[in-house]
Amino acid sequence: MEFAKQYEAYLKDINEELDRISAVPELLQKSVFSAMQYGLHGGGKRIRPVLTVAVCDLLGGNHQDAVKVACAIECIHNYSLIHDDLPCMDDDDLRRGRPTCHKVFPENIALLAGDGLLNLAFELLSDTTRYETLSDSALVRLIGAVSRASGAYGMIGGQVIDLESEGLADMTLERLLELHRGKTGELIRVAAECGCICAGLEKNDEKYQKIMEFSAKLGLAFQVKDDILDVIGQEELVGKPIGSDAESQKNTFVTFMGLEGAEMELSKLTEEAKNALSGFWQAEFLLQLADYLLTRKY
Ligand code: IPE
Ligand code: IPE
Ligand code: MG
Ligand code: MG
Ligand code: MG
Repeated sequence: MEFAKQYEAYLKDINEELDRISAVPELLQKSVFSAMQYGLHGGGKRIRPVLTVAVCDLLGGNHQDAVKVACAIECIHNYSLIHDDLPCMDDDDLRRGRPTCHKVFPENIALLAGDGLLNLAFELLSDTTRYETLSDSALVRLIGAVSRASGAYGMIGGQVIDLESEGLADMTLERLLELHRGKTGELIRVAAECGCICAGLEKNDEKYQKIMEFSAKLGLAFQVKDDILDVIGQEELVGKPIGSDAESQKNTFVTFMGLEGAEMELSKLTEEAKNALSGFWQAEFLLQLADYLLTRKY
């Protein structure tokens, strides 16, 4: 199938499942469910869940189970965005072309909606009745991988380095790479890892290693592109405030190596990611995904 059509098909499956898991119950605490639903929707690219499902499909695992696992990861991503936009973090008012969660809901409810999505992710991953083929031990592996990648060694750690690097004059490439690996790379890498686990692949399998290499590079490239879009993107397309990084004195690939340097790094990382898949048959979709992320406008 053509790349765009395949991406659409994945999006449809993922968004249907996200609709199901974000229904708002008639409870006293309804507001937090509404804020969670708001944070999850609004036109995200869904690249992390697409990656999980595409990797699982490539390896011949159960598609529907992968969609369900993928949506748990998307919950974590969206929690991280709600928190990332808060006044105590990046203090941004626009996301996906709409007001950020704390601009629509009270700030305390937005904070709790982020927490709610984080918990929901693990509730979904540990609900053994949701899955057709995944064994309990596969679910434990998934929970272990996702919790570590999104925790203080991974995404949370990267966010801390990001905040503590604001205005830092003696930034090093090593620190910048660790920042990007953590805040963005790890969740993208683990999305692909979950696809491997869904398909029953063992860690010592060469294919597993190759997919880790691919997705780790892709994750870094993704944040380099995000840094570039923050400088030269069009707000109507990006759906986020342009220049937010400069305003917060962030250290990014663009501030570190200039626009041209960052573009070169992006191309290099994308090439390296694709090279990791050279031994695969039928990895066309993942290869095209890497190119799409290289050229994306939002
Ligand atoms: C934005 O992620 C935050 C980063 C980690 C760079 P995405 O660009 O995947 O955001 P959505 O989900 O498509 O809105
Ligand atoms: C955010 O990085 C990473 C996470 C949300 C974990 P950014 O702060 O650059 O993301 P945007 O640009 O606000 O989407
Ligand atoms: Mg941030
Ligand atoms: Mg931000
Ligand atoms: Mg950014």
